[in-house]
Amino acid sequence: MEKVFTSALKISKITKSKIGSVDFDNVGFGKVFTDHMFVCDYVDGVWQTPEIVPYGPLQMDPSSRVFHYGQAVFEGMKAYKDDEGEVFLFRPEENFDRINKSAARLAMPEFPKDYFFEGMMTLLEIEKDWIKPGLGNSLYIRPFVIATETNVMASESNSYKFMIICSPVQSYYSSGEVSVLVAEKFSRSANGGIGYAKAAGNYAGQFYPTNLAKEQGYQQVIWTDASTHQYMEEAGTMNVFFRVNDTLLTAPVSDRILDGITRKSLIDLAKKDGINVEVRPVEVKEIVAAAKDGSLKEIFGAGTAAVISPVTAFGYQEEHYQLAPQENTYADYFKKALTDIQYNKSEDPFGWRVKV
Ligand code: COI
Repeated sequence: MEKVFTSALKISKITKSKIGSVDFDNVGFGKVFTDHMFVCDYVDGVWQTPEIVPYGPLQMDPSSRVFHYGQAVFEGMKAYKDDEGEVFLFRPEENFDRINKSAARLAMPEFPKDYFFEGMMTLLEIEKDWIKPGLGNSLYIRPFVIATETNVMASESNSYKFMIICSPVQSYYSSGEVSVLVAEKFSRSANGGIGYAKAAGNYAGQFYPTNLAKEQGYQQVIWTDASTHQYMEEAGTMNVFFRVNDTLLTAPVSDRILDGITRKSLIDLAKKDGINVEVRPVEVKEIVAAAKDGSLKEIFGAGTAAVISPVTAFGYQEEHYQLAPQENTYADYFKKALTDIQYNKSEDPFGWRVKV
């Protein structure tokens, strides 16, 4: 990617890296963080000088608005290393656009594009040894913005902190397989709400119903539309796809559903490869009927963190529907097609890969 250096990015580096103490074969997901982080404050209507500083705790006033009103948005991205040691991002402009759409919905200021890319590219250059090659290894990049005004008035903040932290990761779901409970009562989002934004609160609201689902033996919830609970929408941290016979179904994005980058990439891959894909409201009852008559071949979730995660079973109205194992799954097919592009193992006909 062309680097645009317009800001005077300040860099202060650590004196001794902690990389030697990290067991990269057992990092899990999002528990270990690299040596540095990117920080930029918004004060008096202006984004201040961006900085890369040693990773560490923030000192914040307890009245900072993010703690009280949840004015916070984030992104999830990954950097991948190929066997030659080159580092790549996947469709990073999409993440940039989305964090600003999320910010706008939460009455937060847009972050400048040159700061975003200069900060991230420089951080990745500094942290490149933390990116391990090999399928399944990547550096999860978490840009986020929080409201920092110190005042508990319930209105938007006038100061913010934009940050990027990075975490070497392996798979999000350790078993690689997920079972889900279809929501009949709780909702993740509603028309006119913030469901399409990557807002912190969208996730906080899922934890309690997800814990109830866990008590029943499911790892995640498939959210249904808030007004009727008759349509499948999104699964926990992923968009969700259903394969009925050889047709792939997924819900259209709306103001309730996150416009997932993995989701839209799969739709493009399916179209390119002649897989019939229908982007339309997916009725719970048609999926239940397909599970009963055996035409439901697969369910899988798609997301940056989760990549493609096969769903092996779902629960609905006290019934448990176990999917029969399949040969040559779409989930495996898409996972390979996607990760081959991400890890520079194949051609990139869509121009999605961006070299760092
Ligand atoms: C991602 O896929 O990057 C996500 O945002 C999931 C995250 C909540 C772990």
